[in-house]
Amino acid sequence: MGVPDVKDESLAELMSLGGRVAVVTGGAVGIGYAIARRMVQAGARVLISDIHDTDEAVQALAREFGDAQVKGTSLDVSDAESIRACVERAVQEFGRIDIWVNNAGIYPSVPVLEMSDDDWDRVLDINLRGSFIGAREAAARMVGAGHGGVILNVASTAGFKAGGPGVAHYVSSKHAILGLTKSLAVELGPHGIRVLAIAPTLIDTPGIAAGQEAFRAAGLGDLLDSYAARLPLGRIGVPDDVARVALFCASDLALFMTGSTLLVDGGDVAL
Ligand SMILES: NC(=O)c1ccc[n+]([C@@H]2O[C@H](COP(=O)([O-])OP(=O)(O)OC[C@H]3O[C@@H](n4cnc5c(N)ncnc54)[C@H](O)[C@@H]3O)[C@@H](O)[C@H]2O)c1
Repeated sequence: MGVPDVKDESLAELMSLGGRVAVVTGGAVGIGYAIARRMVQAGARVLISDIHDTDEAVQALAREFGDAQVKGTSLDVSDAESIRACVERAVQEFGRIDIWVNNAGIYPSVPVLEMSDDDWDRVLDINLRGSFIGAREAAARMVGAGHGGVILNVASTAGFKAGGPGVAHYVSSKHAILGLTKSLAVELGPHGIRVLAIAPTLIDTPGIAAGQEAFRAAGLGDLLDSYAARLPLGRIGVPDDVARVALFCASDLALFMTGSTLLVDGGDVAL
């Protein structure tokens, strides 16, 4: 499948996801919700999938974008059958899958000497294995339907550095996402499927808010404020900072990009 020549398309056409169907894992809140929101705004039909209830997210997008076509479904990315059911649901609701966003992820904190085998497996199962299976199942559907698509993996600056203690499993999972992204790009490119990753720095989400409580309880102060103070751009990220880059990656603006990881980090990794 060749890369189309789009030099005569308008910017509006290049940015549009009109006619495309996207699935966002872990899309009920946080970064996933922000990605789903920008994709809906760009004209995609979106299936929000999450281990938690998706009703609130779906209703909020329907309120904001009126006739937006958004559905929700339950998904546990640590369960291959659940991922396959999510793919089926997307096809059943919207007829196809063009964009699959592996966003669902967890970041519990535990020192390496106390980290159990189960602690390790849980993070790797959700963050890495779930992304692999999601990509494989979505790509199989795209190839079977005879069209290309985009797989977008949410990595992290923890894919470039250790960052700090307590997250050996998380850091390993996110480093591996960069390798998975490259390998998928190599094998899926000939099928017209582009594979990219985005690597956010600290982003203010419900997941981070929960961790923040633990940070304060441990007497370590305000994680968000201290992180913001050391970033060149002077603040931590908000979910929409990541969503705008995700939209770029999924759109035809990025038509000749695959296999790479885009930092969305306010200068964090450059420090
Ligand atoms: N927030 C940050 O600072 C930050 C930085 C870099 C990377 N990331 C990555 O971004 C992604 C989203 O993070 P966030 O901060 O928005 O998290 P969050 O905890 O705020 O939201 C994560 C969503 O994923 C869902 N989820 C969790 N486990 C799931 C499972 N097994 N199956 C399906 N859904 C599941 C949750 O229910 C939730 O809706 C993660 O992959 C995370 O590693 C976050």
